[in-house]
Amino acid sequence: MRVLSGIQPSGKLHIGNYFGMMKPALALQEEHEVFLFIANYHALTSISSADELREHTRDVALDFLACGLDPEKTVFYRQSDVPEVNELTWMLSTVTQKALMERAHSYKDKIAKGIDPSLSLFTYPVLMAADILCVNSDIVPVGKDQKQHLEMTRDIAQRFNNKFGEVFKLPEPMIQEDVSVIPGTDGEKMSKSYNNLIEIFGPVKPTRKKIMKIVTDSKDLEEAKDPDACNVVRLYKLFASDAEVAEMEKNYRAGGYGYGTAKKALAEAFEAHFSPMRAKREELENNLDYVEQVLSRGAEKARAEITQVMDAARKAMGLV
Ligand code: ADP
Ligand code: TRP
Repeated sequence: MRVLSGIQPSGKLHIGNYFGMMKPALALQEEHEVFLFIANYHALTSISSADELREHTRDVALDFLACGLDPEKTVFYRQSDVPEVNELTWMLSTVTQKALMERAHSYKDKIAKGIDPSLSLFTYPVLMAADILCVNSDIVPVGKDQKQHLEMTRDIAQRFNNKFGEVFKLPEPMIQEDVSVIPGTDGEKMSKSYNNLIEIFGPVKPTRKKIMKIVTDSKDLEEAKDPDACNVVRLYKLFASDAEVAEMEKNYRAGGYGYGTAKKALAEAFEAHFSPMRAKREELENNLDYVEQVLSRGAEKARAEITQVMDAARKAMGLV
């Protein structure tokens, strides 16, 4: 099975990204052929500082390698090192209905927020379809918010195939239903767009402070508490064993157990989980040549695959 996913380098990665996308994608590398790329062309729809884009791109590469991406198993590359996706975007845009793009939730949400949309924001799903179709992906692991983009990809591929012959495979989305939305420190969806992040590799002390400030209700120490309604417990479940979670839930229900104690347990579990990766990340930061080499080798491998699909697509359209 060929798996592909991408992530935009548009900010620091947080535990919503980690549990929603990185961890499931990395787990697949043990059994499948995984392609993972840093979507820097996509990030241009929201970033217009070259330094910022470069820094975020490098950070995402470091984060994935630190979190366990094995470049021997996963083809890891930077989107802009595979310029064929732009050519394919144009080809696919000729079979894409404008009305289909107008239905995109993420586009409509951005307009509702008052963003003056560029053409690139409007055609974003076509570039995403090109990313997916150019490597013949079978499965695309993404968060729930990307589901519609996957449906659009299938729609575009089908239209192309109907017009020009069977060139593209129809990919299936893989959505993590059980961890579909990781809450932020305010209980809303954790997202770069809101000020509620717990970064994976943020500075240690401020990160601990953020965890200690997670919003809870205002029950007193001695009162019994509802673990099912608490953000601290929801986040603790991501890190702790079943027995540890059961223990915390029992303490909540019994009373005499404060939110501060629960938050400390969460902070410790968080640090224990990420500290080996943090050490690895520091090592990699001192070895950026290696990181660059991983990405350029990844692009070479990706392009070897993409060349075949592109040849078929060009032929089907009468471009060669
Ligand atoms: P953000 O919302 O912070 O801008 P992105 O939209 O760049 O994050 O998401 C990158 C990947 O991480 C996507 O696959 C997305 O579904 C997943 N993801 C982001 N935030 C969360 C969250 N709070 N819970 C689960 N998955 C998430
Ligand atoms: N749109 C995705 C996001 O914001 C990132 C992305 C771009 C992607 N191209 C992709 C994800 C192809 C999966 C497959 O999260």
